[in-house]
Amino acid sequence: MKILVVNGPNLKLLGTREPSIYGRETLDSIMRRLTAYAAAKGVCVEAVQSDDEGALVAAIGAARGACDGIVINPAAYTHTSVAVRDALAACGVPAVEVHLSNTHKREAFRHASLTAPVCVGQVMGFGGAGYVLALDGLLQYLEAQEKDMLK
Ligand code: DQA
Repeated sequence: MKILVVNGPNLKLLGTREPSIYGRETLDSIMRRLTAYAAAKGVCVEAVQSDDEGALVAAIGAARGACDGIVINPAAYTHTSVAVRDALAACGVPAVEVHLSNTHKREAFRHASLTAPVCVGQVMGFGGAGYVLALDGLLQYLEAQEKDMLK
């Protein structure tokens, strides 16, 4: 089982970026925690981060046939990117959207997600722990799908 974790713009700044909103944990530390958690379940995690919309689209596209699922924090592109949304819809790989902050408690422009409607589900407001919750939800979804296929 292989899961692609996609992190969008400015998330490499976690740790020092607006800590009152995003906390003090770095992206490296969040990814290490997630990778260890996944490994204990026999799941391999590949993590990418880019500030570039095209690079994110390419990474999502490359997941088709190569990964079983995607955990994605599109960051600001959540609210703006038709390209990232279309890439998620086109690749056909089940994805769960995650946000460190509860975007509904923040500015109005963060309340809409272009990407959530093409994801299986969404986790937000739990900081770095949200990535583990998103992975768990995704694994349960994949397991249920597999059982359905065996029926
Ligand atoms: C974020 C929320 C977005 O609105 C913001 O642009 C980010 C981070 C989050 O994880 O809380 O960069 O995706």
